Amino acid sequence: MCGVFGYTGSSEANNLVFDGLKRLEYRGYDSWGIAVHDEKEIKIYKNIGEIQRNDKFNNLPKSNIAIGHTRWATHGGVSVKNAHPHFSSDKSFSLVQNGIVENCESLKKKLIQEGYSFKTETDTEVIVRLIEKELKRTKDLNTAVKKAFTKLKGRNTIVILTNKEKKILAVKNGSPLVVGIGKDGTYLASDSLSFSPYTNEIISLDNFDFLEIKGKEIRIENIKTGKKKIKVKKIKNTSTDIDKGEYKHYMIKEIVEQKNTIVNATQYTKKSLSPVLQAIKNAHRVYIVGAGTAGFAAGQISYFLRNIAQIDAQDVRSYEFKSYINIIRREDLVIAVSQSGETADTIEILEIAKEKGCKIASIVNMFGTTISKMSDYSYFTNAGPEICVASTKVFTAQCSWGYLISKALVNKEKEAKENINELSCKFDTYFCQKTYKGIIELSHKLKNKEHLFVLGKGQNSFIALEGALKIKEISYKHIEGFMAGELKHGVIALIEKDTPVFSIISDDDDSQDIISATEQVRSRGAFTIGIGDKKFEKYDIWDSFISTPQVPELSSISNITAFQLFSYFLSKELGNNIDKPRNLAKSVTVK
Ligand code: M6R
Repeated sequence: MCGVFGYTGSSEANNLVFDGLKRLEYRGYDSWGIAVHDEKEIKIYKNIGEIQRNDKFNNLPKSNIAIGHTRWATHGGVSVKNAHPHFSSDKSFSLVQNGIVENCESLKKKLIQEGYSFKTETDTEVIVRLIEKELKRTKDLNTAVKKAFTKLKGRNTIVILTNKEKKILAVKNGSPLVVGIGKDGTYLASDSLSFSPYTNEIISLDNFDFLEIKGKEIRIENIKTGKKKIKVKKIKNTSTDIDKGEYKHYMIKEIVEQKNTIVNATQYTKKSLSPVLQAIKNAHRVYIVGAGTAGFAAGQISYFLRNIAQIDAQDVRSYEFKSYINIIRREDLVIAVSQSGETADTIEILEIAKEKGCKIASIVNMFGTTISKMSDYSYFTNAGPEICVASTKVFTAQCSWGYLISKALVNKEKEAKENINELSCKFDTYFCQKTYKGIIELSHKLKNKEHLFVLGKGQNSFIALEGALKIKEISYKHIEGFMAGELKHGVIALIEKDTPVFSIISDDDDSQDIISATEQVRSRGAFTIGIGDKKFEKYDIWDSFISTPQVPELSSISNITAFQLFSYFLSKELGNNIDKPRNLAKSVTVK
């Protein structure tokens, strides 16, 4: 989704902001822009499509204060006109926004009645006009920005570059914004990753914090409480992890990294886990929430909690939580699962749960983000930056953490770590050309198929859903994941000659049902692909088989990697943009 980046200091700002926007690219965008201040005035450059230098950008006056934006269109189509930054009518300030003004229509109607006019279809321009209106009354820009901001509904973050005083103003609510304190100046951006080459000292902002950066001076004041604060924190420096190294794409790099990331996610001692373990034990019910891949990880974690630790754990997609509002109790615990820590659907649920008096726990990948800050018990997957839009290593890290806490609840955390370490060693030899060869051949064979299916059961139910999502996201193929039990209740109607059907098989109580389901689709002409334990490869039910490393209780976590690899090689074969698939954003900060 939209990204913001700003800089003021002694270095040259145009290139710093340009590079910062490049590092925000992974969040997803369709247009971009930058506002710079030479000693006289603000100049803006905007474009649609990829962030790249051209003569017009290079001819911007050199400056040491600038703000930039990557836009993921919500209000108004993708056009240079709608791209940010937006100038005020007299060019006294320019503004970028991340979020959606939910009461945009009513605010705009009123402003038009009062004589204001609009040049774009964006909700952002409504904010600009509101500030202009307040400025007429108050004659002070800071006050006008604060007043205008409190009239906005929804999760919005705005950043403003002013002409006269040559300063940056910002207000955050819901949508992410973090300040970086560098040796050469001050940075502000949607995530700390984008300024990580320059600093790992950050100030994380709370909702309704108003920020003013003028030269070396930084002022933060909360609009709602009036509280002033500047608390600088050091975070782990991630700048070395954000290049592709020897790999062609981030996706394959991140898939291979799983041999380490499943271990990193489970480095918690029993003592450090004890707050969340106690909260789980004390809870009347545990809800585990997330969206997309994180929602499927929530499903897998709740499976581990129910099956290993006999906990009443219920996974709920964040965007479907509303029907639980009437039954959720203050004695319940909500565990949020998120890579970015900024997913709007999930944040909304946590707000509701907090109001109900529930305790919140979270497993998040990005440090200093909203979801971890909202949590009573905050844990991190420690998977390092995940740049590819399609989540891979963070999914297995989330599941591994869920496995660890489930085992720790029955005092078997040592066994959990041993199993994770064993899988990590097996991954070390699994991610190699020999494995890739079979998967590449399969993707070549299936590259022209338009409809594919995945069947899973028990520990592999959520793997079927996540496996299908992975392939969908990058290959743009229509692929559906099903619980194998659904087959006879309708899904089998879709099977015709040569329809590819993946069946996930582990050495467990459900293997016989998976074998039967596979036989049933095969007898109707399906092209069957087994994924899982090599032990089943000899069965005469497969047209193809991809075996995955097996370790007790962790078969599901291993099985997903075959789908990740298949998704990668299929999309490579199709020539798709693997790391930045069409229409998708890495961090979904609006509803
Ligand atoms: O940052 P989060 O984990 O909260 O994001 C949730 C989903 O938007 C995310 O998992 C999405 O489904 C990914 N594109 C999956 O690959």
